[in-house]
Amino acid sequence: MMKSALRQRDVGRLRQIARLLPALALITVALQPHAEDPTRFNLGTPASTEDIAAQDIDVSPDGHGLPGGGATVAQGKIIYDQACASCHGSEGQGASAAALAGGNRVPPDELAADRTIVHDVGNYWPYATTLFDYIRRAMPFDSAGSLSDDEVYASTAYVLYLNGLLDADSSLDATSLSAIAMPAARYYREDRRVSGGDL
Ligand code: HEC
Repeated sequence: MMKSALRQRDVGRLRQIARLLPALALITVALQPHAEDPTRFNLGTPASTEDIAAQDIDVSPDGHGLPGGGATVAQGKIIYDQACASCHGSEGQGASAAALAGGNRVPPDELAADRTIVHDVGNYWPYATTLFDYIRRAMPFDSAGSLSDDEVYASTAYVLYLNGLLDADSSLDATSLSAIAMPAARYYREDRRVSGGDL
């Protein structure tokens, strides 16, 4: 009695497995590599040192990554008038694109609460070095990447001048740019969260 009950159950299992066999066979066939599959597809080319250097343009807040060279505020006015003023206004007051200067210097809670106050480089940006990074990678908006490093220094200098952060007769290079303390820097604090529950 006991024996035949067991047998019936075993037979049931075997039938179930038998029903699955065709599907298992198909999966096994699909996973077999095709004899004519290439081992390499030969797509793309290895990145050269120059290719990598052209992409590796990030500048840290402390100025790490800034290139050599530099420019004066006076040179910056020439670049700014040619390449930036059409969208940002002749004095950085904004036009089709955001204002870069002219905003009131108010505490951050006021700046956040009153959306009519212009957020610009002088009252909102924590690091001057980020301005160089941003202009080099993203501006002019319609031809990003077209400026030489000296032209980026020049336009950075002019935007800082428009914000009263550089004198008209001054110049800018990696050392002097890294040394500029932005008015809004004290309103930011370092985010030390790493991951998971911290966030
Ligand atoms: C064709 C129009 C155009 C030109 C020319 C242009 N910009 Fe811009 N700019 C923009 C636009 C649009 C944005 C906003 C981009 C975004 O939010 O992604 C912007 C954003 C910026 C910002 C960030 C503003 C902020 O506070 O968020 C800076 C700084 C800036 N531009 C500087 C420059 C400088 C310097 C030049 C000249 C070298 C320049 N731009 C030329 C259209 C332009």
